[in-house]
This record gives sequence, C-alpha cells and structure tokens, in this order.
Amino acid sequence: MEQQVLLSELATDTLKGLSSNPKYLLSKYFYDDAGSAIFQEIMNMPEYYLTDCEHEIFSNQKEEITQAICPEKKLFNLVELGSGDGLKTKILLKHLVDEGIHFQYTPVDISAKANHELVQSLKKELPNLQVEAQTGDYFQKLKNLQGHASIQKIILFLGSNIGNFSVDETTEFLSRLSAYSNVGDKVLIGFDLKKSPAIIMEAYNDPHGHTSRFNLNHLVRLNRELDANFDIQKFEHQTTYNPRSGEVKSFLISNSDQTVQIGTLEKTFRFTKWEAIFMERSRKYDIKTIEELALYHHFKVVQNFTDQRNYFVDSLWEKI
Ligand code: AVJ
Repeated sequence: MEQQVLLSELATDTLKGLSSNPKYLLSKYFYDDAGSAIFQEIMNMPEYYLTDCEHEIFSNQKEEITQAICPEKKLFNLVELGSGDGLKTKILLKHLVDEGIHFQYTPVDISAKANHELVQSLKKELPNLQVEAQTGDYFQKLKNLQGHASIQKIILFLGSNIGNFSVDETTEFLSRLSAYSNVGDKVLIGFDLKKSPAIIMEAYNDPHGHTSRFNLNHLVRLNRELDANFDIQKFEHQTTYNPRSGEVKSFLISNSDQTVQIGTLEKTFRFTKWEAIFMERSRKYDIKTIEELALYHHFKVVQNFTDQRNYFVDSLWEKI
C-alpha cells in the first residue's frame, strides 16, 4: 500500500503557490528565525519609515491615546494581534501602568518564541502588569475572548500588518474582527498612508539590500525545510508600487530558464527566464478609504493618530 505522507502547512502552501499560474509564495512564511532577524534590520534602517512613524505616534500621543481608549478608566482587556517584539506597545503599556489604569494585556502571536521573549521582558520591565500571552491563530483566540462579554476589549493590530492582506482578505479579517467584538469594544489599527512613491520605493527597495535578502531568505527556508535546491543567485528581487491601488508588490524573478527540485514534495518546478514569483503585498491607504472600511464593518472612527509628516495613521475605531 502507498504510504500516506502528511505534508506540513508550509509544504502544502508551497505546492499550491508554485503550481499556480502565475506563481506565488505566502508572506507569512518570511518569519523563520533568520527572516525575523532580517525584518529587525529592515525596521532599523532609516528608509523603513513605518516603524519610526508609529514609534513617534506612541511616544508623543500616549496621553491622548489613553484618554481615547479608556476615558472612564474602567477595567479592560488589551488584546494585541501579532504582537511580535511589542516594542511600540510597551510605550503605551508603561503609560497605562503609570496612570494606575486596570487592564490585562493579552498578546497573541503565531510565534511561540516571540511570545515567550515578550513575556520574559515584560516581567522585568513592568512586573505589575497582568499578562496572558496566547500562541496561535488570531481568530481562534478572538473567538474564545468573545465569551467574556462583560469586560471591554481593546484590540491592537499595529505596524501596517493589515497591508499584507488583499482586498478580499481585508474584508474577511475586518468582518471577523467585527463579529467577535461587542458594542463598545475598540480596535486600534496601524495603516501606512499613501505618500510620494519615491519614499515608498526607498523603503521597499532599500540600498542596503535587506529587503532583497528578506525575500530570498524565503527560498533558503524552502531549501532547508522542504529539501529544495533553489540557487538564490538565479533570482532577482523587484518591487513595484501602484499609486492608485496603493499596493507595493514584491517579486522574485528568475534570471534564467531553470528547474528546481523540492524533495519533500517529490516535485520539480520549471521557471522560465524572467518569470516572477509574487512574494508580498504591502498596501498603502488614504484616510477616506479607512473611514469607509470602518463604517462598512460597523465601527465608528473615534480618532486618527498620525505622525508629524502624515505618513502613517493609527486609527481608533469603536464597535457600534
Ligand atoms: C510587517 C507586513 C508590516 O509590509 O511593510 C517590510 C513587511 N516587507 N519590508 C510591510 C515588510 C518588506 C512589513 N509588515
């Protein structure tokens, strides 16, 4: 009898993406340990303005944000989706603790390692903060939290992570977020705003080559985890920006006719010269679209917090 082999999620998704026409890979797989380290380098480079903007917003407007999220200073649960290293959130957490506000912090992340490190650092930096980290899928966790309807939820989804979603995925995400929210719950979502294309292109086509390495690392991961034999010299990173849709798109382009074996899949994939693999979307928004999105999903916009250059917005919504 033929042996049944259970493929990992990475294997299944890779098979699907590379068998499609046009080919694609999923950006959620960028973040293995090496990829997470490269993403830290991206966030540290001056061209990647997003992190600086959101840091500025949290540093300069923590009083206003606090006032807007909990004007009555009632107990609430602060839930963060995709908390990562929590660097920006810690500014707000510290302020809330200093103000003597009663809340619980629930960071939700797919990476157990990131979660563990965040919890350890919070124990040291904010020993009185009540933290209950959850590892796993956003939606499953949100669903579970919906049970505690008596406690208000404030949900953070920062860093322009929402930009990775297609239009359909955005609708799906916000519909679920809305369904799992009770009237009066609030969400704070970080959106990167449309701006001069030259500035956007510098951030995603950086002169240091970090973004290129970040993309190529996906292939390195497939070599290691799926026994593939990608030659990364044979792929070139390319980024485009469409000012109308606001989408930055990242591609890896095959610079020759070639075949690649993926051992785990027992398959060979053919790449023609200049064929592109779609790697990632990073969508840029305008305020009007953000406000329409909120209303469409039964939220009202409470306040928009922008940086001084108007590059980025953390938009606070309340479920109605
Ligand atoms: C982590 C999804 C917000 O899209 O700006 C950075 C990832 N990709 N440079 C983004 C990323 C290339 C980043 N997000």
